[in-house]
Parts: sequence; structure tokens; C-alpha cells
Amino acid sequence: CGIVGIIGQAPVAPLIADALKRLEYRGYDSAGVATIESGVLARRRAEGKLVNLERRLQAEPLDGKIGIGHTRWATHGAPNETNAHPHFSDDVAIVHNGIIENFAELRDELVRDGYEFSSQTDTEVIAHLVSREIKRGAAPAEAAHRAIKRLEGAFALAIMFRGDEDLIVGARNGPPLAVGHGQGEMFLGSDAIALAPFTDSITYLEDGDWTIVRRNQAQIFDLGGNPVERHRQQSIGTTLLVDKGNHRHFMEKEIHEQPEVISHTLAHYLDFAGGTWRPLDMPFDFAKLDRLTISACGTAYLAGLIGKYWFERLARLPVDIDIASEFRYREIPLAKGAAALFVSQSGETADTLASLRYCRNAGIPIASIVNVGGSTMARESDLVFPTLAGPEIGVASTKAFTCQLAVIASLAARAAAARGTITREEEKTLIRQLCEAPRLVSETLKLQHRIEKVARELAHVRHVLYLGRDTNYPLAMEGALKLKEISYIHAEGYAAGELKHGPIALIDETMPVIVIAPHGRMFEKTVSNMQEVAARGGKIILITDGKGAEQASVKAFETIVLPDAPDLIAPIVYALPLQMLAYFTAVFMGTDVDQPRNLAKSVTVE
Ligand code: G6P
Repeated sequence: CGIVGIIGQAPVAPLIADALKRLEYRGYDSAGVATIESGVLARRRAEGKLVNLERRLQAEPLDGKIGIGHTRWATHGAPNETNAHPHFSDDVAIVHNGIIENFAELRDELVRDGYEFSSQTDTEVIAHLVSREIKRGAAPAEAAHRAIKRLEGAFALAIMFRGDEDLIVGARNGPPLAVGHGQGEMFLGSDAIALAPFTDSITYLEDGDWTIVRRNQAQIFDLGGNPVERHRQQSIGTTLLVDKGNHRHFMEKEIHEQPEVISHTLAHYLDFAGGTWRPLDMPFDFAKLDRLTISACGTAYLAGLIGKYWFERLARLPVDIDIASEFRYREIPLAKGAAALFVSQSGETADTLASLRYCRNAGIPIASIVNVGGSTMARESDLVFPTLAGPEIGVASTKAFTCQLAVIASLAARAAAARGTITREEEKTLIRQLCEAPRLVSETLKLQHRIEKVARELAHVRHVLYLGRDTNYPLAMEGALKLKEISYIHAEGYAAGELKHGPIALIDETMPVIVIAPHGRMFEKTVSNMQEVAARGGKIILITDGKGAEQASVKAFETIVLPDAPDLIAPIVYALPLQMLAYFTAVFMGTDVDQPRNLAKSVTVE
């Protein structure tokens, strides 16, 4: 979810709606705004995308110079208007991002005290808790503080009080929250981009912090109520506001930006002209490392999984990789000599962040690959390897993924050089190959019409299987993930060699099987698996290169021929047809490509 609070000089509802637009990546199943209008709490809420709230606000505008707003990704309670935030209890209005874990216990306690609940959300307990403290005689800010102390779980909050039009209380424990400093006006927001049009002077709260925000000042306290100093910073790049340009969807635009952003990203790590690495201030020495632990979620996890193949093969560096939601609870012993690497577009994903903190407690060096500079993971890492993909708006990750791959490929090649597992000559070749990635990606984009044709077929099916070996196995999973995210077609990515151990039972004439098989070390083996599919009448869509197309002895239903790509960068290039297939399939099916149902771009709850 995304939250905003503004204490301004003029009516704030339009500004809040505008800020929520920039937070929609955090959830978009319902939204709401509350203000204090002529001394009374007033709100407008709407189910569905933000435009519904905007329409509601146009029809029934809200007055008031103080307000809070919310865009929701449902955890407790269906995404309908009743469960949409802000929630009220007497004189208290609240918006919340996160999950209150002890909510059932708190709700029972409040029900015993006579409080009635009008929603199924965990948030409403906070509103009632605050209002109960006010009834017991506490001043608003103190009431909020007492309530916050009772909460277990993850939350970012903004609380407003009827009777004080110069006060918003914010709190953070987990999901991010930033104070934006203005001239005679103050802001709260889930991130700096939400506040970008209003101010670039930002203070991020730390976990356990809460803040009293007034028009002319913001004070920050720790949970014990002691004032704390937090660094105020100039947020950079936040004026970079995003639009679709000539593209139909952000996802399409982001797919097309890849040659450029991959090239920007690579240029951060290597000098194209000189064919050398740029210096990095490493918190660990690749040469001395015994083990690398990678952890991430979703698409970022799949980038990490491809990284495992690279680090192990090139640098002989053992890699453990986990889905962050598993890693954080597995109680993994982390030996000295290990380093941890986290991969995240947003730098805010709750499970990845928790894994990072687990590793920090274990005392091993922490590096992270993130796309959002000021994000929590970036701030809590010993070293940040940026992906310079620019803001990614489409919920299905495309350019962030290929930029993550570009960074990981550079790091693996660099680790290999540091560990002496490749010769100087081989190192130079790898650098040269990396430099070729933007050009090959750009050539692959030209296959759009061919891919569109295949997508027309996919738009009529119910299930799709993706197969690949080696780095093409995680890529198969990424292809399947992309398709299910935006077209809602059921898709599975499998290691081609695993086909015979179960999924082959699914194959019949109606089942498209997308095989990712560039001509290379695993080509013949993958072709054997294709034979197994063909023998059972499966519809093969082969994604390969010129030589692969020539030598595949199995008749494919469709063949998509990519430019020849060196092994190291092939996954970056082969990601493109998978993204485009998913994209066009979704377009033909008429789904909401940029904001598919049930998903959010950045998930700051467990
Ligand atoms: C969400 C998004 C995915 C993304 C994952 C991890 O589920 O919908 O596209 O891969 O979170 O996000 P991160 O920001 O950590 O890369």
C-alpha cells in the first residue's frame, strides 16, 4: 500500500490524489482520501483503480487544508469500499501500510470495550486504539504513541485528528515512510517520488520511529518517546516523472528502453572504450570469499538464480540462493568467509529486507543490487550495486530484470578474474561480450512482429509450459511468471531434463511448450527433451539462434530466431522474446497490462 499525508495552505485533496498516482505501484485495488472539512472528518473512498477515486473527488470535492490518503493492496479484508482506507474512529482518521500481527487479540479487547468494527481490516484496530487513549485523557499525539506501542507487525501509519488541523502523526516499523519538508507546509509519504512535486527535502524515518508533523516543523521520536535526529537529505532524480511517451503501456515502453538502460547500467561497472572494469569499493574480496548467499523475491530471485550458474561456473564460487520469504525463517548458519547479496528492484520488499537484516545480525558483509537509490535496502547495505534502469512502472518487471542480469554477469566475470579462475585473455573476452549486450537486445526487439504472431496463438490457450536447461531454466521460470502475471494464463517453467519426471503427463495437442535453446553446450540435450514433447503431439515454440534453428531435428510449430549471443549474455538477450510474448498475449486478451489484478509492484508486507 502507499500512504500520503499533507498539511498545507490550500485544499489538499487534489494534491493527495496526485501523490497517490505516483504510489499506485504499491497497490491499486482501492483508494481513499480524508480531510478535515469545516472542523469535521470527511472522506471519499473508491474500490478499484485510482481513477475511480479521482472521479468520486470530482463529483464530490473535499475541502480542507489537512489530509491523508491511501492506495491499497489488500491483506485483511476484500478490496471493497468498506475496507478502503482512511479508517475512522470518532475523531481519529488513519491510513496504514503493513500487517498488524496481533490484530485479532487487539480487536477482541476493543470489542469487549464496546468498540464496533465496520470493516474487516486490521487497520481499524489502530484507529480504535488511538481513539480509546484520547477518551482516557491523552492528547492526540500521545494517544497515537501509546497505540503504536501496542502494535506488533509491520506498519507505516499516518494519523489525523479532528480538532487539531495542524497535526499528523506518522510511524514506521517496516514499510518505508518519509517526511517531506516544505515552506509552511509538511508532507508524509511512502517514498520521495510521491512527494517529488511538493518538495525534494526528505527525512526517512527509521524502524521504530514516529513523528509529530506540523505545518512548520516535524519532530521525530523513538519508541520510548525520546527525540531523535534523522538525516535530512536532498532527494535526487525525483523530478524524473514518468509518462508512457508514444507507447500503449509502460511495460511496452520499458521493454523498448532496455538497450539504453542496460548500456547505462553496464557503463557503471565497466569502461566500454578501455575494455576494463571500473573500480568498486568492495566490502569483501571476491578472491577470499568461500561462499555467496543470494536472496530475493519474484523476478529478482530468478535473476539471482541465473547468477548462481555464472558465479559457480566462471568464478568457482559456491552460491546458495533462496527465495527471501524462505530464507528469513530457515535459520541458516552463515559461516565467516561468506557474503550476502540481495537483489531487488524497489529495495523495499519486506521479505528481502528481513533476510538482509538476518545476515547483518550474523555479521557477514552485505551487498545489494537495487534500482531505487534511496531505498531501505540501499541504505542498509555495506555496498550497493545500482541497476540504472530508471523508474519501472509496469508491475511485471522487464528492464529491471535485464539490468540485474547485466550487473550480476559483470560481478561474476569480475569475481572470476579476482579468483584467478579465468585467464586475462578470457577476462577481456567476457568484458567484450558484455559490451555487446545492448546491441543484441536492440536487434532482438526487431523480432516484434514475429513474436506478436506467436502471441496471437497463446491468447487462446489455458496452459503453457516453458522449458530450458542451465541458465535457460531460470529463464523458463521467468517467462512463465511474466505470462501468468499479465495474461492470467497458467504457465510453468521447468528444467527441460525434469520434464519426464512429471510435467510430461500434461502434454497433448493443445499444450504449447516454449523451449528456450540457443545453440550451445546444452543444445543437444534440450533437443532430446523437445523430441519427447513432439512424440506426444505437443506444440513446440522454439526460441533459438540461427544455428539452433538449422540443427534442431524436431519440427517446431513456430521458431523464433534470435541473433547469436555469447553464453554469458544470452540470458539477457533471451529475456526479451519472453517479455514480448507475455506482453502481446496480454494485449490480445485485453487485460490490464501495467496493473494486472491482485498484484503490486512493491510488496512491503510478508
Ligand atoms: C512483486 C512484483 C514482482 C517483483 C517482486 C520483487 O511481487 O510484482 O515483479 O519481482 O515483487 O520485487 P523487488 O522490488 O524486490 O525486486
